[in-house]
Amino acid sequence: MKCVRCKKKAKILLKRHNAAFCNDCFLYYYANQVNRNIRRHKMFDRNDKILVVVSGGKDSMALWDVLAKEGYNVVAMYINLGIGEYSNRSQEVVERFAQQKGLELIVKDIKKEYGLDIYVLAKTLKRSTCSVCGSIKRYLFNKVAYDGGFSVVATGHNLDDEAATLLGNLLSWEEGYLARQSPVLEKTHPKLVKKVKPLYTLTERENLYYVLLNRIEFLHEECPHATGARSILYKEVLNRLEEESPGTKHRFISGFLEKGRKHFQDVAEKLELKECKTCGQVTTTEECSFCRFIKVCNQQER
Ligand code: FES
Ligand code: ZN
Repeated sequence: MKCVRCKKKAKILLKRHNAAFCNDCFLYYYANQVNRNIRRHKMFDRNDKILVVVSGGKDSMALWDVLAKEGYNVVAMYINLGIGEYSNRSQEVVERFAQQKGLELIVKDIKKEYGLDIYVLAKTLKRSTCSVCGSIKRYLFNKVAYDGGFSVVATGHNLDDEAATLLGNLLSWEEGYLARQSPVLEKTHPKLVKKVKPLYTLTERENLYYVLLNRIEFLHEECPHATGARSILYKEVLNRLEEESPGTKHRFISGFLEKGRKHFQDVAEKLELKECKTCGQVTTTEECSFCRFIKVCNQQER
């Protein structure tokens, strides 16, 4: 097997591209894919101030590294969600990386700063920990970016994540989510910051290879609440399809973005946006869920 670019011995085969690369050419391919996604979807340019959300996992660590190396103006944000040892270990990983590379990192701790506890919230509100956690993260991504004058928030969602989410949303015809599934979410309110996913065409395996080649430390374990989640099943099903027919995931996503998504746009436009009466952040209700969460946790403590 020879590298398609330099003809030296190849180290990794990417079946869906019908291409194999040596390590150096893989890194070239990887950065090229990222830059192409950024340009194609007008995500940002080198003048933008970019907030990269990092969890300590391979995808977000790869994103942070590649954007910094490509000369983008990035600051990372890590949110400690109070998920026991998992949170402590992941915080250490991102802090070490920031220090080694001399990169700027913002750390938010939901317990220390806001008194929030996702377990108390999940129990009191009868919601899953993942859904409470998701609301908190979305709120903080936007708030920290808006308050800090960032023009865009970048997350490490990869092709496997996007394809699994799309499959899940299609299986239950979640029109609202389908309308919003995109590598770029433009700002629809002056207080909302644009959201982008520069790795949406790269697979988990490619991100893993990237961090291993660059000797980037990352947390191998997944969030303990992720196991058993629906999305894992969808990923398994898609992996099976991909094995039989390489390129399935990519065709699924790109076909949806080109031909499917537009049919759901009127659902997205119907949502009326307001400003939260307590914190002023954008919400669809009188008071945003984050402010309600703070009240719930305060009451429980008393
Ligand atoms: Fe949010 Fe696991 S990362 S519940
Ligand atoms: Zn609020």
